[in-house]
Amino acid sequence: MAILNLLDQGNKKVTNVSDIKNFLNERGIIFEQWEASKPLSIHDDQETILEAFSHELKPYMHKHGYLSADVINVHKETPNIEAIRMKFLAEHTHSEDEVRFFVDGEGEFFFHLDEVFSLLCQKGDFISVPKGYKHWFDLAPTYFVKAIRVFQTKEGWVAEYTESGKEKKYIK
Ligand SMILES: [Fe+2]
Repeated sequence: MAILNLLDQGNKKVTNVSDIKNFLNERGIIFEQWEASKPLSIHDDQETILEAFSHELKPYMHKHGYLSADVINVHKETPNIEAIRMKFLAEHTHSEDEVRFFVDGEGEFFFHLDEVFSLLCQKGDFISVPKGYKHWFDLAPTYFVKAIRVFQTKEGWVAEYTESGKEKKYIK
């Protein structure tokens, strides 16, 4: 279950799903919660995971013109995990929407719009970060994310770093 943190409003936390949805939708960010069509285990492969969410994933991909989907799985034993964390942790934008569905684990998206707020995403949470939105993502403290990603282009995840250093004020 997601937690919205209004970092510029004294770290006010919002946990009610419809309140979170409204806050994000007002800012152009799609947020949903999906359920698997069959029980999953931690050992399931990419195909099994994609199949379990295909009733949600396929219509979404079709509607928004996505070509490919995969499952990213990073955890404490992943080589160079801290370097991977740093890659996501500097403020950046993308030229296509960044779509993630959290199958397991968790991670925190930070958004830099008029104000800065974050969304801790956990199992069952779906988010689409619009192209051009300034944001960053933190794997810490859990360092475990299993998430479905979808892409419109062959290049996959490409970041344009803003070099603003904005994230430094907010990283724990
Ligand atoms: Fe990103």
